Amino acid sequence: MRASTDPSVPTAERYRAFARVEARGMSASYERWAAGVAADPATVALIDQLPAVKRQPNLVFSAARLNGAAVREYPEFAAWLREHWSLVVATCLTHATQTNEPGRCAVLLPVLAAHAGPLAIIEVGASAGLCLHPDRYSYRYRLAGDSESAGDERMVHPADGPSPVVLDCAVTGPVPLPERMPDIVWRAGIDLHPLDVHSDADVAWLDALIWPEHDDRRSRLRAAVAVARQEPVEIVSGDLVDQIEALVSRAPAGATVVVFHTAVLAYLSEQDRNRFAEQMIRLPVRWLSNEGQSVVPGVLERLAEAPAEASAFILALDGEPIALTQPHGRSVHWLG
Ligand SMILES: C[S@@+](CC[C@H](N)C(=O)[O-])C[C@H]1O[C@@H](n2cnc3c(N)ncnc32)[C@H](O)[C@@H]1O
Repeated sequence: MRASTDPSVPTAERYRAFARVEARGMSASYERWAAGVAADPATVALIDQLPAVKRQPNLVFSAARLNGAAVREYPEFAAWLREHWSLVVATCLTHATQTNEPGRCAVLLPVLAAHAGPLAIIEVGASAGLCLHPDRYSYRYRLAGDSESAGDERMVHPADGPSPVVLDCAVTGPVPLPERMPDIVWRAGIDLHPLDVHSDADVAWLDALIWPEHDDRRSRLRAAVAVARQEPVEIVSGDLVDQIEALVSRAPAGATVVVFHTAVLAYLSEQDRNRFAEQMIRLPVRWLSNEGQSVVPGVLERLAEAPAEASAFILALDGEPIALTQPHGRSVHWLG
């Protein structure tokens, strides 16, 4: 577990680690806010009024922005937080970090499209289910690296034409770029607390979870929500380990069932991760995981060498690593 989300780590240390490891290079304003909190005992004391699991920087900052905190320098933020603390507490106690990033579909699509025949897809830890529509988005794959074709682009569109959601992804290595969309005949999800794309409050929370500087992700969220609102998908409420077997049994006969997850298993205990991995091996499914490096049992150990980027996710099919991915789906490096 990361220091910033580990409830046993003192609050100042959680914010210091968040500034250094997660926010640096990703969000200059969150880096300043988190470093500011870490060095400010009065704000740490305020945050310590929350239960330890609710003190995580991403939750407190998103709750503040949902309630109107402007993205300014740290002293203004600290003053705002003191004045509006009861609102922030109420949001933290009723919400969780459930970032839903449709951009991650760009790294899943090559694997889904490589499967012939009808697919039934199940996402565990689906949040609002925006990654359950991979065949309804357009993709712009940009060949990167130093090969002759570097700079070339490949567009992939839904069967009925370009989508208002265009997902950009830089690719390196021998990525099997899709020629066509996968044939998805059934889809469903599981989440502890499903968010509803039809609820403006839930969409406002998803928006607040996107870090301040990531405007491209914010406009993509709005466009993806509009797509998802046209095609409602069932998301079962409950724990993924408890619910997965029943949901797999509901998939239509004759379809290949693909169970996938992105940025989810880190929330499970080690024991539950092992139980889930056992289920994936035992059930008649293909298992597609896109998670932090040491999260899925056995995957990191099967890599020939450890990834150079500590933040890279590993994409694995049935427990075998096949690619390294940028955590929001901005790039994928296919392994040989
Ligand atoms: C960071 S979000 C990722 C959402 C989505 N997979 C994506 O990539 O955009 C993690 C999600 O996993 C869900 N989650 C965490 N633990 C879970 C569990 N034990 N069972 C079901 N869902 C869980 C959370 O509620 C949250 O919506």
